[in-house]
Amino acid sequence: MYLDFYGFGENPFNVTSDPDFLYLSNTHREALSHLVYGINNRKGFIEITGEIGSGKTTLCKALISSLDESVKLSLVFNSSLQDSQLLEAVADDFGIKPERRAKVAFIRAINSFLLDQLQNNRNCVLIIDEAQNLKNSTLETIRMLSNLETNKEKLLQIVLVGQPQLRDKLNLPSMLQLRQRVSVRFHLMPLEKTEILSYISHRLNIAGGNDKLVFSDKAADRIFLYSEGIPRLVNLVCDKALLFGFVKETMFIDEGLVEQSIKEIEGTYPVITV
Ligand SMILES: Nc1ncnc2c1ncn2[C@@H]1O[C@H](COP(=O)(O)OP(=O)(O)OP(=O)(O)O)[C@@H](O)[C@H]1O
Ligand SMILES: [Mg+2]
Repeated sequence: MYLDFYGFGENPFNVTSDPDFLYLSNTHREALSHLVYGINNRKGFIEITGEIGSGKTTLCKALISSLDESVKLSLVFNSSLQDSQLLEAVADDFGIKPERRAKVAFIRAINSFLLDQLQNNRNCVLIIDEAQNLKNSTLETIRMLSNLETNKEKLLQIVLVGQPQLRDKLNLPSMLQLRQRVSVRFHLMPLEKTEILSYISHRLNIAGGNDKLVFSDKAADRIFLYSEGIPRLVNLVCDKALLFGFVKETMFIDEGLVEQSIKEIEGTYPVITV
């Protein structure tokens, strides 16, 4: 692999959503401040959407590590849960054991837990990733959780994160009640053309690569054209370009290497395996 050649401690363009690599582009910075604002001000429902591979899960993970200890968190990364399973998952995350396993018992137990937390100045947050896959009945249960409030504030801040179909789903007439409760809404945009090079350099730095390794301006332009600013696609091309660079034993990644990478990804170039 090219890691040793370029002196990386770890793969700079892994496609996993590792928050240590978070680059605060304009859109990611804005999304994060909407999230923090919504949570700290107990705004209830927060909706974050973005195209496939735009960095939603990475953003959630970065948010989690930025929340202070007074925040109690429940995380749902499996959006195919039935409504009763969702309640169980939330109760489990908060360490709640209801007297009975009936839905109403769960909601009552969660409510009294949330009131207790409020009295202790703790804020409770439920984050649901991949929320575009939630079943309507599960969304209805989530709406019930959002009804838990005092006269002054929401007891539970609920962050729904998902692909653009989430927006479409919430726009259905049957979702009106839920939609009206969403008070913070943000759509993650792709990276801007001018951000591509600094995104790449940021990831190279975090991975601890050789200072001499550079991507040219034209290489970055070609990456932008192909990826349309979607970070996952940027990673895919950069990873291949480094492999081609390694084969050529060069620290200079130009548009030719990027072009080859794109051809290989698209299946129009002989595959290199090392
Ligand atoms: N702001 C960013 N800084 C650094 N890396 C990022 C950023 N946004 C996305 N990435 C990288 O892009 C890839 C895709 O990101 P992620 O998995 O978070 O996207 P997603 O929107 O959750 O995708 P999906 O729609 O498939 O769930 C990951 O490798 C991630 O590390
Ligand atoms: Mg994701």
